[in-house]
Amino acid sequence: MENPFKKFEDWYSTHRKVTKASLSGACCFTTIGKDGYPNSRFVSLKEIKSEAFVITGSLQSRKGLDVIHTPKVSLTFWWSETKKQVRVQGIAKELSEVESLEYFSNRSRESKVVSTVFEQGKEIKSFDELTTRFEEGLQKYESQELVKPQRWSGFYVKPIRMEFMEFKKTRLHKRIHFHKVQEGWEKTYLQP
Ligand SMILES: Cc1cc2nc3c(=O)[nH]c(=O)nc-3n(C[C@H](O)[C@H](O)[C@H](O)COP(=O)(O)O)c2cc1C
Repeated sequence: MENPFKKFEDWYSTHRKVTKASLSGACCFTTIGKDGYPNSRFVSLKEIKSEAFVITGSLQSRKGLDVIHTPKVSLTFWWSETKKQVRVQGIAKELSEVESLEYFSNRSRESKVVSTVFEQGKEIKSFDELTTRFEEGLQKYESQELVKPQRWSGFYVKPIRMEFMEFKKTRLHKRIHFHKVQEGWEKTYLQP
């Protein structure tokens, strides 16, 4: 039985080889808010681990609160150089403390300072305040290791469906759909 992760890794590694985009792991992450509205934003795919997509960020951000309320999420990739789209629907599960510590330790110093000094999504009075607080943070933590804030973590997105589309100029797009079943994945082809 064909495994969609093999296909994802083939397509993703080709994309990463050929793309000129600086954030080659960017993908659109959609959550469902408490009010029932979907909400999308770009995030960076960290890696694929145990057949799940790993993303990181603050659990107290809008996306974090949405996921905790409704773990049904989606991820969408568009790779313009290879003209391929991948759509993923699945269930998000919080990373363990050990895993989030590891992802945090791999962040740049600036990113660590930002995640420590700011509460993602909370209101701020002005952009001046933003710069001042960032510079104060850089100074404060100049000679000490930054500790991961409790709220900073991430999610595993475990897919239940994955769709691979090869975009064609003729609009005869090739679409392959995988649906998770007990023993593996059911594969179907979809009309463009
Ligand atoms: C290319 C790109 C990659 C991003 N990667 C992340 C990420 O990995 N984690 C994150 O929390 N925000 C990331 N952001 C910022 C998010 O788009 C968003 O502004 C932030 O997560 C707050 O969203 P929320 O208020 O819905 O939680 C990224 C933005 C862009 C444009």
